[in-house]
Amino acid sequence: MKGVILAGGLGTRLRPLTKITNKHLLPVYDRPMIYYPIETLKNAGIEDVLIVTGGNSAGDFLRLLENGDEVGVNLDYVYQRGEGGIADALGLAQRFAGNDDICVMLGDNIIEKNIREPVQKYIQSGSDGGCIFLKEVHDPQRFGVAVLEGDSVKTIIEKPKDPPSNLAVIGVYIYDNQVFDFIGGLEPSDRGELEITDVNNRYIDAGKMAYGILDGWWTDAGTFDSLLRASQLVAEGGANRMD
Ligand code: G1P
Repeated sequence: MKGVILAGGLGTRLRPLTKITNKHLLPVYDRPMIYYPIETLKNAGIEDVLIVTGGNSAGDFLRLLENGDEVGVNLDYVYQRGEGGIADALGLAQRFAGNDDICVMLGDNIIEKNIREPVQKYIQSGSDGGCIFLKEVHDPQRFGVAVLEGDSVKTIIEKPKDPPSNLAVIGVYIYDNQVFDFIGGLEPSDRGELEITDVNNRYIDAGKMAYGILDGWWTDAGTFDSLLRASQLVAEGGANRMD
């Protein structure tokens, strides 16, 4: 399995912090934000990681991370032109993925523990379909929200005003190669972007989406409050723990 980190976007919710740099290069406690998803993928047993980024500071990722030696993975990079959304960015990973499965992580997501067990289980069970991770939150309207039926996911609603549950879909996704067919068939949402939630709903409609409940804390870091919370959580106990 290969890893893909989506680290593009304008980071508008963090202006002016993101006026002259990319959100994923901002500090979270003692390291640039991008270090955390890299470590999550590495701890899951993934050796080859692609970073999809864009904008003016794309070159800073290369200067910071070089070929990945210091962070312990082999790094590749691809440039996203414009602001086509998360699923558009993921579409740029097709050549990198080749025939392999991928574990995709949004570059502003940070977890306390690790996803080694579900990733290795997916690989051992024949790598079919997709897998998402859910976490109970108190502010589900900020996220993709899952509706469960029995022991499967019935649908995901992106940023619902009236959330049907408090189970947020976190920004870590496992996909087989079919993901690129699904992305190819997407239409832009009302905000003009290709949505990762639409990709996930294609898997659900095809009856090929598994889910797990994430162990330990999870946060994004794309708003002032969540960026502060991310730093506090990391400072208190560390992220990406293997114990
Ligand atoms: C994105 C996804 C959303 C997901 C969230 C996790 O939202 O669209 O489904 O729950 O990441 O961080 P965004 O951060 O783009 O608002």
